[in-house]
Amino acid sequence: MPAQPPARPSTPKGDPMYRARSLFQLLILAALFAPCGLAANSAHPLAPLPPMGWNDWAHYQCDYTAQTILENADALVRSGLAARGYNTVTIDDCWMQKTRDSDGNLQADPQRFPNGMKPVVQAVHALGLKFGIYEDAGSETCGGFAGSGQPDGGGKAHFVEDAKLFASWGVDYLKLDGCNVYAAKGESQNAAYRTAYRAERAALNRVGRPIVFSESAPAYFQGAPDWYDVLSWVRHYGQLWREGDDIATFDPKHPDAPRFQSVMWNYNYNLPLGRFQAPGNWNDADFIIGGDSGLTLAETRSQLALWSMMSAPLILSSNLSQLGAAAIAVLGNRAVLSVDQDPLGRMATLLRRTSSLDVLLKQLHNGQDAVAVLNRSPSPLHIELSAADLGFSGSGCQFSTRDLWTGAQDTQASVLDADIAPHDTAIWKIRPAPTCGAPARMGAITRIASGLHRDAESYTLCLSSTGNAEACSGSSSESWTVTLDGALQSSARCLTAANGKVTMQACTGKAEQRWRYDLVGNLISRSDRQCLTGTREGLSVQACGHNLNSQIWSLPTAWLHP
Ligand code: GLA
Repeated sequence: MPAQPPARPSTPKGDPMYRARSLFQLLILAALFAPCGLAANSAHPLAPLPPMGWNDWAHYQCDYTAQTILENADALVRSGLAARGYNTVTIDDCWMQKTRDSDGNLQADPQRFPNGMKPVVQAVHALGLKFGIYEDAGSETCGGFAGSGQPDGGGKAHFVEDAKLFASWGVDYLKLDGCNVYAAKGESQNAAYRTAYRAERAALNRVGRPIVFSESAPAYFQGAPDWYDVLSWVRHYGQLWREGDDIATFDPKHPDAPRFQSVMWNYNYNLPLGRFQAPGNWNDADFIIGGDSGLTLAETRSQLALWSMMSAPLILSSNLSQLGAAAIAVLGNRAVLSVDQDPLGRMATLLRRTSSLDVLLKQLHNGQDAVAVLNRSPSPLHIELSAADLGFSGSGCQFSTRDLWTGAQDTQASVLDADIAPHDTAIWKIRPAPTCGAPARMGAITRIASGLHRDAESYTLCLSSTGNAEACSGSSSESWTVTLDGALQSSARCLTAANGKVTMQACTGKAEQRWRYDLVGNLISRSDRQCLTGTREGLSVQACGHNLNSQIWSLPTAWLHP
């Protein structure tokens, strides 16, 4: 059941608007713009691995100066975290003034940046780091400062001038937020955002400098049907994108306010979106706040492990000079970081979810797999996973294992077991022996319960072979195998669509048991072209609507890539 081609191209080439009219035109264009042809392309993506770095926002919001940025850049290097890959320092909102100068240029806030922005960029570069900056696709940033987009009511946007200014400063990374985007009368929000982000892509293509482009557009559609449409186009323009809510920020008035629920929420909304990402194009679950106030060390381990299982960008956003040695050791754990930075760039597959734990499996490039178990519950948990639990059915299957937190190794394990503290996550790399056979294309099939109620616990429903999508319990009826010809199998029976009804039947391989999976997430019956629909009343096939929650499914994503 191949999904639609995964999110690969990171240039506008995949966009019909940009499709070259003829080879001749392409050659002429290439000759004309050769010196500027530094945009990413699928052969040499700009961000072949999930970006890593530091950003001021989640700790400081607007309470910073150039000195704050440089102190953190310095701490990034001194802590050794830069050497582990956290190499881009990004200044978020509030760096600019509310108005432009008389030539229409952005102006850095003179209080925060008395010598302007360029010396700050140079100082960051001198530390061997890359430099990122924030702007907005609308008239004003979320903080109310000058944006790059069209003014409210329409008019001239500033994407090209601003991109040139950034390039002249030596900017390597741009986060383009999506507050205050103007939609003309009759224009959809989706179209307005697409026009703005496409314009930024075109501007970046003209500045003669490779600039990683982080798009926030999808976050402005979370919970609405258009969310999936926006997630389907961002890959044509940028290398990474925020899909949803901000992670909880540090509040100096309540420094110890717990922030783990926010980590759980971002993890939950990111996990079902694996089909949109591939090397060069990344879902961004927002900042790593691990190590900062409001998270325990176990919770810090969980955030790093879960983000790494999802191949999410790892952008620290804490006061780095206050990170303790234990937090630095977690955030700099080479073995866990290598899971995040694995070149296959897969999203983890959710193998099983119960009320207290998640079991995740991620295929790695070198024949290994990463396995993680999150203990969401407030109590310690003992877990044992057999080879069959991980999808290996070969007889006498053994694997070599390495616990990525402790380094403990076992060369001939037949189970993975661990005691997991509350809110902690165990993570291993395993190498199955040849006798284990290929892993089954196995895991949970989930859908979102409702658009947005920001409750991590009730957000996801699991498809059950008992005939409904229900609160995930981890029972065997929620374990599905996606066969190569597109059947959905559970307990040796197949999901069957006939006469509008969906039932579990003995597997026959007929069209009524085969499903096509498309990029937005519809499962379309091969026999009647209708969509698998889960409502309170149960499962049915119905005419496919516009990205209805009841019809958008997430499959064991590791298996969707070619
Ligand atoms: C939005 C973004 C945040 C941050 C702020 C700045 O909320 O999602 O990451 O950039 O704007 O105002």
